Amino acid sequence: MPPAAAVVGRSVTRAFRHLSTQDLHTRRVEEAYRVVVECVAAVDPAMRLYMFGSTAVYGVHEKGSDVDFVALSKTDVEDGKGEDAATQVAKGLQAEFLGKLARVVRQRHFSWNVEEVRRTRVPVVRVKDGSSVDFDITVNRRNGVRNSALLRAYFEQDPPCRWLSMGVKRWSKRAGLNASVVGGSITSYGFNLMVVYYLLRRGALRFIPPAAIDVAQVPPVPPYLPLEPPRNDGAELGEQVLDFLQFYLHEFDAAHHVISLSRPGITTKEQLNWTKNAEDRARMNGEKINYQWCIEDPYELNLNVGRNVTPLKRDFLRRHLEKARETALLTAT
Ligand code: GTP
Ligand code: MG
Ligand code: MG
Repeated sequence: MPPAAAVVGRSVTRAFRHLSTQDLHTRRVEEAYRVVVECVAAVDPAMRLYMFGSTAVYGVHEKGSDVDFVALSKTDVEDGKGEDAATQVAKGLQAEFLGKLARVVRQRHFSWNVEEVRRTRVPVVRVKDGSSVDFDITVNRRNGVRNSALLRAYFEQDPPCRWLSMGVKRWSKRAGLNASVVGGSITSYGFNLMVVYYLLRRGALRFIPPAAIDVAQVPPVPPYLPLEPPRNDGAELGEQVLDFLQFYLHEFDAAHHVISLSRPGITTKEQLNWTKNAEDRARMNGEKINYQWCIEDPYELNLNVGRNVTPLKRDFLRRHLEKARETALLTAT
């Protein structure tokens, strides 16, 4: 017998009790924002800097989460619903800007570790300052700002749902499922798409068309959205956690369906041509694309956020979803 919802909820709530004594205000990362703004301005004073990722999605900053930044031109922002260029030329120009930016950051902050990552789908500069916050900087790409604003707009419909998202994210990192840990295959972003899709299927959230999100309307520094402790000692949260696990273990038809925020209702693999045939042919940067566990990116064309979930990792995910009931998302001690 799995534990009762109240027990699960209490356990997850307890795992986050350290947050009640932490300053979660986004102002904690505004210092990092200022530092990056100055470096970006030294390369090109016309560029604007946006913060996205978890700080934008939740409106709070959790200790230990990285901060994601993107430098955008005036035209990028004004054409805030535009598609991001995915050509090799665009990627080359982005890498060139980031090379200059990396040089400036190294000059001004010589003790920091600054790494230019080019092999990824999107060129990025990764900065570790050794003490407080690590950050990633990309350039000329609106999609991160848009997908974070979309997820935030969903969580604003029901702010306590952030606890489910945070619980799932914490579990995914501890279970070794999260792409940020060795052997992991789905990013935090991917898990957030799973959480929101589940809530939409349950009718707990109203559908938002992704096209409605316009960078021109998004504040560059995300406003703080206070996080109240879970209600009733986590009773509702516990039910939601168990129902989330039930949904992905027994209801979601992974063989035929796609986790998608692109349109209301069900999206099939057939519809996107994410089939066995396509799987055999598809490659990205020389790496195989899997269509075992499909998560459609709401903004990138034909991108499966679950592309690294191999058949083996798919089994691994299922076993962890099963275990997560007994362990209350790995929070039970
Ligand atoms: P933590 O950093 O783990 O606290 O969570 P986070 O919410 O910041 O998520 P993450 O760092 O995974 O993602 C930040 C941003 O990177 C997202 O808003 C996406 O724009 C982008 N991103 C991350 N993973 C993927 C991916 O698999 N595909 C795509 N297209 N974008 C991704
Ligand atoms: Mg992040
Ligand atoms: Mg990041």
